[in-house]
Amino acid sequence: MARKIIPGVGPQHPQVIVLFGATGDLSRRKLLPGLFHLVSFGFIPGCRIIGVSLDDMDAEGFRAFARQALKEFSSRKVNEEVWAEFSAMLNYVSLSAGAAALRAAVLTAGEELGTESRRLHYLSVPPSAALPAVHMLAEAGLVEGSHIVMEKPFGTDLKSARSLNARLHEVFDERQIFRIDHFLGKEPAQNILAFRFANGLFEPIWNRNFIDHVQIDVPETLELGKRAGFYEQTGAFRDMVVTHLFQILGFMAMEPPTSLEPAPISEEKNKVFRSMLPIDPRNVVRGQYAGYRSEAGVDPESDTETFIALKCLIDNWRWAGVPFYLRTGKRLAEGQRIISIAFREPPKSMFPAGSGVSSQGPDHLTFDLADASKMSLSFYGKRPGPGMRLDKLSLQFAMTDTGLVGDVLEAYERLILDAMRGDHTLFTTAEGIERLWEVSTPLLENPPPVRIYQPGDWGPRSIHQLIAPHVWRLPFERVWRDAAPAPA
Ligand code: BG6
Repeated sequence: MARKIIPGVGPQHPQVIVLFGATGDLSRRKLLPGLFHLVSFGFIPGCRIIGVSLDDMDAEGFRAFARQALKEFSSRKVNEEVWAEFSAMLNYVSLSAGAAALRAAVLTAGEELGTESRRLHYLSVPPSAALPAVHMLAEAGLVEGSHIVMEKPFGTDLKSARSLNARLHEVFDERQIFRIDHFLGKEPAQNILAFRFANGLFEPIWNRNFIDHVQIDVPETLELGKRAGFYEQTGAFRDMVVTHLFQILGFMAMEPPTSLEPAPISEEKNKVFRSMLPIDPRNVVRGQYAGYRSEAGVDPESDTETFIALKCLIDNWRWAGVPFYLRTGKRLAEGQRIISIAFREPPKSMFPAGSGVSSQGPDHLTFDLADASKMSLSFYGKRPGPGMRLDKLSLQFAMTDTGLVGDVLEAYERLILDAMRGDHTLFTTAEGIERLWEVSTPLLENPPPVRIYQPGDWGPRSIHQLIAPHVWRLPFERVWRDAAPAPA
């Protein structure tokens, strides 16, 4: 059965995808299921996927691997007809077969797809394997006219990031490079742009005159499990903050771009990063959950943080004096991804004593960054009945109310499609990354000691001093309202 191709959404040309790290965890969980969905939705007009990894297997072995990955990790039901079509698109070249074998497989795939096909190289490999893969592509003569997707980490500090970018640029042009940050591919992250710039209501108050402080809070309940060895070298700051949380901060804080095109958006985001003040280690709480040091692959005296909370300042006209509090960590009390904006409070003098004005904190605009996103605007309103007693009320929106949740693309799906189309809007630039490492330098050079917290808690106790006189929004005092039941 030939797939019905939906024009205009995906790339114009068929794609040969070279997937380095094809048998790795990310490939299994996200990339192979994501590519399968993109093919099954008809977003890609023809494709061949060449898996590359250290494993010694053939195309049949790779097909079996992909089938198992879909079984375990596909969020949607797998249609057997589409699978048969998809599996015929898969091929495999072991790294040990070398550049010439890779070249031959890519050229054959390209010929099968016709003269108009394009190449996408996806490097889903650990940092130490990224440059060797780039050089293998160069040796195979597969650089020209292709796009390359790189996974984090993009260095571990300013020096290594600069060196990585410089060495990458010896082979690939910046326009060919797509540095993926999957948080920017999440539907609600893009919705921040729509919400801010497609409405007249909020942008006028999106500044220091009206906003008191902002929280970007991404606690996770996850344990490290098999990732402990990787994590031990990385820690929460490098794994989550310097990548995902700072990128979300960029969308939240940037000026309106001249258009919703890649270059103007990157430029505005980079301006935010340029205005960020270097992180003061006194404004940082590093934590480690009790028991981490006895996990496999972890140094018994490890100083790696599994939790971090910090205060950032953006010294520009829009944000000077408005603290941005960021927090994330593993084995915390709840898994959440929120941005919460606290508005300045009005004078309270006119309300009678005991009215409850301001007793439940300031008005908040809150974004839930879950795939089925939610938003809430909280405010004080009058409690029905005699006198003037106030309650905290809220306006809430849930994506599930729209009936369109099924249309949500997973972050990787969206980003793969964009990289194929050559659209850099949701990707990070060399300049942006280097600046983020630069502002991080004082913290990396002088990290405060890690403080132990109990698994299932919200981090070490000093997080409260960090944010005082404000308080962390999480855990929420009032839970989100359930989505409205679908009309009968
Ligand atoms: C990854 C981090 O980039 O993002 C993980 O390496 C983290 O440590 C994950 O758990 C969170 O992503 P998501 O999409 O599950 O919120």
